[in-house]
Amino acid sequence: MPSLTLEEIWPPFGLRVEAGDLTLSVLREGDVAALVGLVLEGIHDPDDMPFLFPWTRAPREELPANYVRYAGRVLAGQSPESTSLQLVVRRAGEVVGIQALEGEDVPVTRTMETGSWLVRRLHGQGIGTRMRQAVCALAFDHLGIERITSSAYLDNPSSMAVSRAVGYQPNGRRWIAREGEPAEQQSYVLTPGTFRRGEEIRVEGAAALREFLGLGG
Ligand SMILES: CC(C)(COP(=O)(O)OP(=O)(O)OC[C@H]1O[C@@H](n2cnc3c(N)ncnc32)[C@H](O)[C@@H]1OP(=O)(O)O)[C@@H](O)C(=O)NCCC(=O)NCCS
Repeated sequence: MPSLTLEEIWPPFGLRVEAGDLTLSVLREGDVAALVGLVLEGIHDPDDMPFLFPWTRAPREELPANYVRYAGRVLAGQSPESTSLQLVVRRAGEVVGIQALEGEDVPVTRTMETGSWLVRRLHGQGIGTRMRQAVCALAFDHLGIERITSSAYLDNPSSMAVSRAVGYQPNGRRWIAREGEPAEQQSYVLTPGTFRRGEEIRVEGAAALREFLGLGG
């Protein structure tokens, strides 16, 4: 009986997206130490909270193990009913952040949500826009996704600027309890018609992933 590779057993691990000097691949155990290092170095102003769940607020001594628990849950959790592709972004081989693509019942809704973070020392250089453009091209052109949503608190201008630059359209606002205070969040939706593409992407492993996630051939 021929043995299977891990990528054949678990197709998310076979996905690789290249866009210029950026590469995106699904989070694996071996990436955790580098990612935790970036989070401890800083991924946002400590006075701000860009995330729905304030996971970066955990005490420094608890955050690393929390991240391993989170990584284990998302690693095991991929299914057509609940998909969470946490794509590790590398620039010229160095881990710099995460570009996530997530959704519930995606084979039915054909809708996924983007979310991302990048180590703070590299903010403002266009990397956030490029990684978002790359994941949207993956979703529309290779995974059969028809709509991509995103949301950002109104006090997160860089996230909103990236959404606008990539062609997302405003899609309503809502109030959220953020660390015990009300905070207003802007929702966005992107469809292929308004998508502002970036660099050409090269993709490996999308066909097997698409089948694995119930998204058809
Ligand atoms: C959101 C994030 C991934 C963007 O990455 P980035 O590499 O800094 O983004 P880019 O350099 O591609 O673009 C940033 C845009 O924000 C704009 N911007 C930054 N600060 C701004 C401000 N205070 N007011 C208005 N625009 C601002 C920049 O001008 C740029 O827009 P432009 O390309 O039109 O000039 C990064 O800032 C990050 O990791 N933030 C912390 C985590 C986070 O907020 N995640 C999103 C949660 S919804």
